[in-house]
Amino acid sequence: MHTVKVNVGKGYEVKIGAGLLSCAGQLVKDVLGQCRVAIITDSNVLPLYGEKVQKSLENAGLQAHMISFPAGEENKTLQTVGTLLERLSQLQLTRSDAVVALGGGVVGDMAGFAAAIYLRGVRYVQIPTTLLAAVDSSVGGKTAVDLGAGKNLAGAFKQPELVICDTDTLKTLPHVQIQSGMAEAIKTAVLQGEDLMEKVENPENADFTEIITRCVRYKAHIVEIDEKEKNERKLLNLGHTIGHAIEKCSNFQLPHGHCVAIGMAFILRAGEKLGITDTATSQRVEKCLQSWGLPTDTDYPTDALCTVALSDKKRSGDSITFVFAEKIGSCIFKKVPISEVSDYIEKGKN
Ligand SMILES: NC(=O)c1ccc[n+]([C@@H]2O[C@H](COP(=O)([O-])OP(=O)(O)OC[C@H]3O[C@@H](n4cnc5c(N)ncnc54)[C@H](O)[C@@H]3O)[C@@H](O)[C@H]2O)c1
Ligand SMILES: [Zn+2]
Repeated sequence: MHTVKVNVGKGYEVKIGAGLLSCAGQLVKDVLGQCRVAIITDSNVLPLYGEKVQKSLENAGLQAHMISFPAGEENKTLQTVGTLLERLSQLQLTRSDAVVALGGGVVGDMAGFAAAIYLRGVRYVQIPTTLLAAVDSSVGGKTAVDLGAGKNLAGAFKQPELVICDTDTLKTLPHVQIQSGMAEAIKTAVLQGEDLMEKVENPENADFTEIITRCVRYKAHIVEIDEKEKNERKLLNLGHTIGHAIEKCSNFQLPHGHCVAIGMAFILRAGEKLGITDTATSQRVEKCLQSWGLPTDTDYPTDALCTVALSDKKRSGDSITFVFAEKIGSCIFKKVPISEVSDYIEKGKN
């Protein structure tokens, strides 16, 4: 088992390893002490791991209740959070009790948000079961739901007390979700450097425990220096401005990571044409994305992508800040005037 410490607030640990679900109860009890727990999960994860986690908590002497909602991004809404809050209050969960988020990023974001606002805040634990949640969303304390106008528009910063990542849960994950998570891992590698890049370039012999551990270490470092995304944390948006535009154009039918992969490829090619990105780096990352079967281009017209990108929440006044890679391990911010965004997107096309 690997342990990564996240030094934000009073700090918490991320435990990563095979078979951790069966000792989740003891791990939770060691951190939270005696309390009641509501496990929040979705309709796909419930039959796979719900009982195992509930039993583990009960075996550790914690009373554990199960709450589930229908799986899918389309349910990451205020309405679903409302239902979760009602269930928490029916269970008479108090301020000294806790929520356990068991699932992918959708569960983590919603259970985290519910924990942030129920009784003005109760403690929560993340148990990520997708690669994307393991390498990215379960760490760092961003919680959110989608609004009609866009993704993640209402939420709160709320750090978990503990993150337990059982790599065995990846065995039941559809391949497309492994790909989606790998896009975020490759993004992290471009930001972090050679150490991680070498680990993500080998799909045949990928060591997920190692990849997750290194991604979490990097994210912990970024969150420690910039919890509220004022500066450095914005680096994690590499590939996301164009990625979000593609996601929206696809009506959220393309998985998040696939859109980020395309967004990253765009920004690398545009960076290359602008003399920011070293050609070898751009080609290396594109090859890496493709080796995982991830897409690196899209047929959506520049106009459509531009319109959506300009409505992105990362816009500030008359410019958008893009993250560009100079080379592996070295990324920079560049403010692009609104009037030039379309030209930048065009440059990113293959
Ligand atoms: N808070 C953050 O910092 C942050 C960062 C990145 C992404 N996100 C959010 O995360 C969400 C995407 O997360 P995701 O990709 O994990 O999606 P997801 O939670 O929808 O999970 C993908 C699918 O896999 C299923 N699933 C989960 N675990 C499984 C398992 N072990 N075996 C089989 N099926 C399983 C789920 O039920 C779902 O159908 C988005 O809403 C995104 O906005 C948040
Ligand atoms: Zn992302």
